[in-house]
Amino acid sequence: MLGYKTNVWYKEVCSFTPNYRNGTTVNKPSILEFDVIADKAIQGFEQRANFYRPLRGEQQADAIILRSHRLTEDEVPNDVQAIGRAGVGVDNIPVAAMTERGIPVFNAPGANANAVRELTVLGMLMAARNVVGAIAFTQGHAGETDIAKSAEAAKKEFAGTELAGKTLGLIGLGAIGGLVAEAALAFGMHVVGYDTELPAARALKLPQALNLAPSLNELLETSDFISLHLPFIPGEHGTLHFIDSTRIKRMKQGVVLLNLARPEVVSEAAVLEALTVGKIQSYVCDFPSPELSAQLGLGVILLPHLGASTDGAEEKSATMVLEQLFDYLENGNVTNAVNFPNLKLSRQTAYRLTVAHRNVEGVLETILSQLAQSRVNIARMELNTRGDIGYVIFEFEAEISEGLIGVISELSNVLRARYLAP
Ligand code: MLT
Repeated sequence: MLGYKTNVWYKEVCSFTPNYRNGTTVNKPSILEFDVIADKAIQGFEQRANFYRPLRGEQQADAIILRSHRLTEDEVPNDVQAIGRAGVGVDNIPVAAMTERGIPVFNAPGANANAVRELTVLGMLMAARNVVGAIAFTQGHAGETDIAKSAEAAKKEFAGTELAGKTLGLIGLGAIGGLVAEAALAFGMHVVGYDTELPAARALKLPQALNLAPSLNELLETSDFISLHLPFIPGEHGTLHFIDSTRIKRMKQGVVLLNLARPEVVSEAAVLEALTVGKIQSYVCDFPSPELSAQLGLGVILLPHLGASTDGAEEKSATMVLEQLFDYLENGNVTNAVNFPNLKLSRQTAYRLTVAHRNVEGVLETILSQLAQSRVNIARMELNTRGDIGYVIFEFEAEISEGLIGVISELSNVLRARYLAP
C-alpha cells in the first residue's frame, strides 16, 4: 500500500483498475481520462498514477482529466477528489455541482494562449485577404494548363485589405487577449481592449500601446476587427449571446468578427442576419454548426475547434493541469481551480488534513473545537476563501484518528475533508 489515502473513509485507492495505457495494476491514484490527452504529458505522470478510460457502469477514480467531453454529474464516481480540464474553458463541466461535492475543478490558464493567438491572427489575415475564396479558386482550376492566365484575370475578385492601420477591438484581456494585442500591434494595428474584470497584475502585463476602451460601445463603434476572448458563463449575468443584434448594430459597416472563445457568446442568428446585409463582412468562428456551415458563401470562415490544437499547446495544457491535480491529490494544495481559493502550504510533516467548507460564520471554530477536544496539536495551518467557499489545510506532527476525521467530515457546512498521511 502506498502512502496515499483518498478520503475520510480511508477507501483504498483503485488498486485493481488496469492502466489502459500499459495494462499494469499498480496501487496508486487512478485518473479517469476522458478525451485523448497528450501522450507526452501523460508519460510524465505514469509513475505516479494509473490512467484509465471510462467504462460502462460503476467505477472508481481519484481524479478526472478531460478536454472537451461534456461531463455529466453521473459520470463523476463518488471517490473523485478533483477534476482537471486540459484547457481554459470549463463550461463542459458541472462546476456548481462539483463544488457542492467538495471537488475542485482545475484548468490551465495561459497554457494554450499562444496557439489561440496564432489562429486568431490567421483568422484576421484570412478574412482581410479573401484567402478562403482565393484558395477555392485555385482548387477549382487545379491541373488546368492556363491556370496562371485565369488566375491573373480573376485575382481582382480576391483583392483584400491590410491589417496595418486598422483598429482591432479585443473583448477579454486575459492571457489570450494580451498575446493577440501584442501580435496585432506588431502588424501596425491600433488595438483597443475591453474587459469587465481586469486585475491589476494582468493589466500590468498588457502592452503599453493597447488602449483600454472607455466603454464597450466605443470599442464596438470604432473597431474594424473585433475578436472575442471571453469565457461562456451561463445564467442571468453571464455571457450567453454577449454579441447580439443590439451590439452588432453598434459595429462599423463591414466589420470582421472573430470568435475563437465559445459558440454561446455570439447569437448565431444575429450574426447570420448581419452577414446577409453586409454589416458583418466576415465571421471567423472556431465552432461549426449546421446553420453556419450552410452559409459559407456569406463570409463565414469556419474552423473545427482548432484554437488549442497544436502539439505544444496540448502538451503544455495537460502537463500544467496534471501538475496541479497531483499537488492537490498528494498535498491538498490548490492552484488554478475555478471554484476553490488558491492555497499552498509547503509540506513539512507527513500528516495533513484538508477541509473544504462553506464560507459561513463559525465553521472553522467548530473544526478547531473538534481538534482541541481530541487534544490534537496543530503544527501549521493555512486558509483561504473565495466567494461561498472556504478551504483550509492543517498539518500535524502525529497521526490523527479515523474517528476524528469522520466527525469533522460530518460537521454542518463541511463539504469534504481529506486526510493525506502515510
Ligand atoms: C480551451 O478552452 O482552452 C479549449 O477549448 C481547449 C481545447 O481545445 O481543448
